[in-house]
Amino acid sequence: MQSNRPDIQLLVPDAERDASFALSWFERPEGHATLLSMGNAEDEIEPSTLEGEKATLREFLDLEKDNKQMTRMIVVDGKTIGAVWIELFENHGVKPPSIHIMIGNPEYRGKGIGASVMQSAVDYVKDVLHAPAIYTRHLVSNTIVSNMNKGLGFVEDGEPYSDENGLTWQPIKLELSLG
Ligand SMILES: CC(C)(COP(=O)(O)OP(=O)(O)OC[C@H]1O[C@@H](n2cnc3c(N)ncnc32)[C@H](O)[C@@H]1OP(=O)(O)O)[C@@H](O)C(=O)NCCC(=O)NCCS
Repeated sequence: MQSNRPDIQLLVPDAERDASFALSWFERPEGHATLLSMGNAEDEIEPSTLEGEKATLREFLDLEKDNKQMTRMIVVDGKTIGAVWIELFENHGVKPPSIHIMIGNPEYRGKGIGASVMQSAVDYVKDVLHAPAIYTRHLVSNTIVSNMNKGLGFVEDGEPYSDENGLTWQPIKLELSLG
């Protein structure tokens, strides 16, 4: 996956490099809201630890080895500010390939980074994986990601539905013209 902007790097996860940044996203006051906006249920959110973040990053590498997920850390100004991941297996009823993103550091939101990184992931799915479509979902309440994905050409893929935690999701898709 190649970044479309010279100021944004997309790097293979590295537990030693990235874990302290990930911890800082979730320890700051906005961290809880970030996890909620991603669709984590309130009662499932546990306090982050450095070891826990390292374990998550190693899990990303294991998933990549098993060809289940491709994760790239978003690095700007020498700081790991978020992550983008392409899931290659059906997860939570979302067909593969699906793309997910989080700019964990709020200081870097609203600067066009999310849209640029999403476009890089879309380009990868189209040009390297040659998949005919991308599926994903977002909370109905997350208007920012909804606006971003609409801007990239995603359209609604059916009606919103509620999960077992009472969260309401909108399925969306992007048809890719191959060739
Ligand atoms: C959602 C997220 C990835 C967007 O990334 P970003 O870098 O902040 O967004 P960008 O600056 O690239 O903006 C892209 C588009 O998003 C929308 N957007 C961005 N900030 C917005 C805001 N505050 N209000 C409404 N729409 C907004 C706009 O449509 C914007 O396009 P425009 O600039 O042409 O108007 C990022 O804010 C984030 O990670 N938030 C927390 C976690 C999350 O919600 N992840 C997605 C879970 S499905």
